[in-house]
Order: sequence, then structure tokens, then C-alpha cells
Amino acid sequence: MKLIIAANWKMNKTAAETAAFCREMRRDEKLLEGLDVLICPPFTALPAAAEALEGSSLKLGAQNMHWESEGAFTGEISAGMLVDFGVEYVILGHSERRHLMGEKDNQVNLKVKAALKNKLKPILCVGETEEERINGATDIVLEKQLGGALTGLAAEQAGELVIAYEPVWAIGTGKAATADDAEKACAYIIKYIREKYGSDPALQLRVQYGGSVKAENIGSFVVLPSISGALVGGASLEAGSFSALVQAARKAVLH
Ligand code: 13P
Repeated sequence: MKLIIAANWKMNKTAAETAAFCREMRRDEKLLEGLDVLICPPFTALPAAAEALEGSSLKLGAQNMHWESEGAFTGEISAGMLVDFGVEYVILGHSERRHLMGEKDNQVNLKVKAALKNKLKPILCVGETEEERINGATDIVLEKQLGGALTGLAAEQAGELVIAYEPVWAIGTGKAATADDAEKACAYIIKYIREKYGSDPALQLRVQYGGSVKAENIGSFVVLPSISGALVGGASLEAGSFSALVQAARKAVLH
């Protein structure tokens, strides 16, 4: 399965900084061969990124969207507006949106459906907090988040998803999950999809690990049977460290 490595820049980088990052990444397009590598800049930098990436195999993603196509939704962005700039992927239900902005599973569900309807590939984020983990509730949390976000999806739609397992306690802390814990959670996600939608979507689905991923540890995640990539925050902000991370992932899986 093709690895998918996504850079989630969160609220970082101006348009000029984005263009400079893209130029630097494009110095070695060979790095991207055989992998899906994408950057998810803030909305305001999407036009600059789209322009700088023209003809490149580096893909473009967004960090959020609204489920309606237009209307009185101050401050929101629709799927159609993202597609307009060549955006192919959209991160949905990131833990920062769930925990800091109060985003709920039913809203994530509306977003997933709107993204698929507009031919955007959702990167659906799920993951437990530290307290939930300590209480042994990881699978329960994953089941609730998946059930809530995927309500009403057809089997072929489930197969089009990318699901990112991002334990909240591992995000931005420098404390990544162990390979064993990450594999267990990602295997649970695949099992959930298999049981609910059948084996074809479960085989098609790509599951990423996210949370303190860097060049030094990505290799230990992408070789695992249930993990097909990574969602990267901090280590994706400099072209140098992101290139090193992509290179390390290639080396681990492609030899
Ligand atoms: P860090 O890689 O900075 O831990 O962030 C992970 C993340 O939230 C990616 O979406």
C-alpha cells in the first residue's frame, strides 16, 4: 500500500514562507516517488502553495472545512472553495478542533460526507486523551469517534478514507506512542472498518499514525502492518526536517 505522509502546519506560515518551503521541497522531486506526500498549510497560504506546487507530485491538503457548500457561515470555508485551489485532501476532526473548538462527532460526520461528495479525500483524525488511555478506554473512544464520524457512509466511501490515529497525549509533546501501542490502535481501526463495511474497504483504507513523529522515529511506525503513513506537525515545519522524515520513511519501506 502506498504510504501517505501529510504535513499539518496548523496555524503556521505566511504565503511567502509557504512558497519558499515548496521551492525547497521541489529541489528533490525523486524523494516523493512511490509515496503520497502532502502539505496542509493554513487556508490563506493555499493559493501560494498551489502555484508553487504546479507540476509537482507534492500534493495539497487543507486543515478543516465546513459541511455546507455556501451561505451565512462567517469565517468558514467550503469544500468547493478548497477544490478551487487544487486541494485533494482535508484533515477533519483533528484533536485540536475537537478539544479547543468543541467540534463534535456529528459535525465531523457532516464534514466527512461533504468532503467525499466534493471528491476531497478526508483524513479523519481519532485518538484518546491521556486520561482515557490510563483508564484503558482507548478502544471505546476510537469506536465512539469512528461510529460518530462515519454514520451513513457507504462501504465504498469508507475505503476512500485516510484515518489518522493521533493519541492526544502524543501531539506536540515529544512523547510518541510506542510502535506496539500505535499498531494496536491502528489494527483496531482497520478491524472496525472490516466489521462494519467489509474486507474491501478495510484493505483499501490507509491508517496513519500521528503524534511527535520525526525523522528519527517514522521508520518504526511505517513498517508496521496496520500503519500506512504519518500525520506530522512540528517536524513538518522546516523543509529540511520534513525531507529527512520523508527520506527515512522511504528507506524503511522501499529499501
Ligand atoms: P506533532 O507532530 O507536532 O506532535 O503534531 C501532530 C499532529 O497534531 C499532526 O496533526
